[in-house]
Order: sequence, then C-alpha cells, then structure tokens
Amino acid sequence: MTEKQPEHINASLIEARKKVLGVKFPTFYKDPVHLVRGEGVWVWDADGRRYLDCYNNVPHVGHCHPKVVEAISRQAATLNTHTRYLHEGIIRYAEKLTATFEDPLNSVLMTCTGSEANDIGLRMAEAVTGNRGIIVTDHTYHGNTTVVAQLSATNPPRTGDARHIRFVPAPDSYRPLGGAGGPPHALAFAETVRKQIDNLNATGHGFAALMVCPYFANEGFPDLHSGFLDPAADIVRAAGGVIIADEVQPGFGRIGSHMWGHQRIGVKPDIVTLGKPMGNGHPVAGVVTSADILTAFQDSFRYFNTFGGNPVSCAAAEAVLDVLEEEGLMAQANDVGAYARGLLRDLAGQHDCIGDVRGSGLFFGAEMVLNRETKKPATAFTAEIANNMRQEGILINFLGINFNVLKIRPPMQFTRSNADQLIETLDRVLAHTELKE
Ligand SMILES: Cc1ncc(COP(=O)(O)O)c(C=O)c1O
Repeated sequence: MTEKQPEHINASLIEARKKVLGVKFPTFYKDPVHLVRGEGVWVWDADGRRYLDCYNNVPHVGHCHPKVVEAISRQAATLNTHTRYLHEGIIRYAEKLTATFEDPLNSVLMTCTGSEANDIGLRMAEAVTGNRGIIVTDHTYHGNTTVVAQLSATNPPRTGDARHIRFVPAPDSYRPLGGAGGPPHALAFAETVRKQIDNLNATGHGFAALMVCPYFANEGFPDLHSGFLDPAADIVRAAGGVIIADEVQPGFGRIGSHMWGHQRIGVKPDIVTLGKPMGNGHPVAGVVTSADILTAFQDSFRYFNTFGGNPVSCAAAEAVLDVLEEEGLMAQANDVGAYARGLLRDLAGQHDCIGDVRGSGLFFGAEMVLNRETKKPATAFTAEIANNMRQEGILINFLGINFNVLKIRPPMQFTRSNADQLIETLDRVLAHTELKE
C-alpha cells in the first residue's frame, strides 16, 4: 500500500503518549493517524495529508461546522454556568429536542456523556419498578460508569456487582437465532428475554428493564424488520418492566429513514438515552423520558450535574438540530446511504468475501466472510481492510459479533461523490488484501 506518515514524528508521539496516558491506551489502526484539522467530511494529518472520514459520527453535521463553532464561541464569550440558574438556552433546546419524539417522551435530563445518560436510565427504571434487574444483549456496550460497564459481556470489568444483569443473544440477521429470519427470529429473541426475566425473578433480583440500542449498532447493525422488538416489548411490559433505548449511535437522523432508531424498528421506549453526535463533538448527552418517569426519578434520587445542560453545551446542541434541519441532512443521509449500499452490493458481485451488505442511511457496512456458504467470519481480514483503507486515505473501522463487519458511519454531509471515492478505494483494497481468518 501507499505512503505513510514520517515514522519519527508518530513514534515520538506514541512514546510520549504511553508515558502519560498509559501503555494500554489504544489508538485506531496499526499505524495511528495524527490528526490536526477537520472540515466537513475531511480530516488532515500533521503532514497535510487529507483523509475522507467515513467513520466519525460525533462530528455529526461535519467537522468544525461553522454554525456550531459560532454558537459555541458566542455563548462561551457571553456566559457559562450550570442548571441551577434560569436560562432560556436549555428550555429552547429541550423543547426543540422533545418535538422530535412522540408522546409521552417530552421531558429531558441533560448530562455530559452517554455513559452518564445510561446510568440515569438504569436508575429511572429502578425508580419506577422498584427493581434492579437489567437485560441487555451479549455483544453490547453502553458505557463506562461502574454500573453501566457491567453491561458489557464481551469486555466485563473484573470487579463490581453484576448479579442483577442478564444477557440475551444479540440479534444477528445473517445467522438468525433458530435458523429463520423475520418474525420467527423476533419470537426466538423474545423467548430469550422471557427466560431471563424469569431467572431475575427466581433469583430475587426482580426485573426493571430491557436496555437495547434499537439499531443494535455495536452488535453489527443486523437487518431487522419493523416490529422485530414487539414480541419482546410485550413480554417486558407484561412483566412490569420498562424499555430503555440507547440512541447514542443511531440517533439524530443518522439512519436516514427516521430521526431515531426506535422509530425505525417501531418500538415505543419508556426512556431514551442520547450522546455522541448531540453536540457535534462538544460533550453533551441526555435522557428523554415521560414527565412521570422523570418525576419518579427525581423523587428517588438527588441529582445534579455540574456541566450537563450548561448554556454553552445547549448552544452547541441547538446548533446541531438547526443545521440538521436547514441543510436537510437526514434526507441526504437516506439518499447517499441507499446509493452507497447499492455500490457495495455491486462490489459484492466481484468480491466473494462480502457476505452481507446492510444498514440504513449513513450507518452501513458489509460483513466479511471466508466463504459465503459457511459464512465463516473473516475477522483478521476485516481488520486488515480497515488498516489498508487508512493507508489509502479513507477512515473506516469494524465491529460486530465476530468483529468482521466493516462499519461506515461518516459525518452527515457525506455525498454521493464521497461514496464513489469510498467504494472505488474499497474495491482496490479488497483486490490487494489477502483473504484470511
Ligand atoms: C451504544 C453506546 N452507548 C453508550 C456509549 C457511551 O457513551 P460515552 O462514551 O459518551 O460515555 C457508547 C460509546 O461508545 C455507545 O456506543
């Protein structure tokens, strides 16, 4: 593959980084990228090399969008305090945000990170049910607080109390539980939820909530029909539990067809948690729920967040919503995503390693396999593809149950011409990378 950054610059940064940030503080790619500037869908490294960013969802409306930068600067130069003072900014933002949800999701609590939002989501579930038992998928990630970290089955912490947590198999549309996709898969998934509710009740923990990313983003964004979660949701409600939708990844129009992942899959959550793209990189996150649940939470827990919902954060978040609307970025995500997936499917005609193409809007990718018959995952190959794409100036990554799904999730300003460049490069990289397990 082609040029690399000068070894000496990156090598000295890597060494300095290890000394102060720890030897196990990871970077993306075998050859880490040293980024110094961003604009729209582009980022530049220290040598002035430009990369097409096909991965970063946090700069949602584009790296350094001028409207967001201006809103942050203006508010930072005017006033920044916290939510114990009256301020129009948080009210205006909360009204605009909740207008994108259906009733009764009309109340907001603001935080700084998705992890905090999920932590609060769990406590809200406890406040309304009186129980602590939580069900999540066995390939999820919901964040890094002491409590939320326990929800990670693939990388569980070595300490802490996980006795009240139960896992169900992550939905996999390519290899559906029980063998058949569609409604039988939905029923099979719901049955696993029922068993874990029974187990939580039998072991004295009681059942509080099913928490899922409604797009199953970290699980490899399986292709699930609208209504897939209905049987599970019925079981959850019959058992007196609530549904928490973690929208940290699919939310804010990224999936093109809908503003929120739960709307696409057709489930009505009781609690929705938000994060990453909400402030275009400024640390803003939050929880949207009903007035009743928010009050139950406030009755049960004293809660104050020094930075959550401060005027600068709200200005950033409001600017993101405004830009999404003004620039029609959800519709663009729908169009460009469908176009890019079409190109990926064409590519599958030439490269047998592409086993499945899936996704929605600007959150899509391809599952890489050694053999389409056996569907054996090409995990090391997928990592190599991401690394080789980086050398070709295209930033993508991979995830999924077998870590063999190329994950493409660019800033929302991504165009058809950007998609052409992505797919042409992928074609070249696939042709030159040796297929391996
Ligand atoms: C689905 C999901 N939920 C929550 C989080 C945690 O968000 P944060 O890193 O802002 O705490 C992440 C982060 O990757 C995530 O992917």
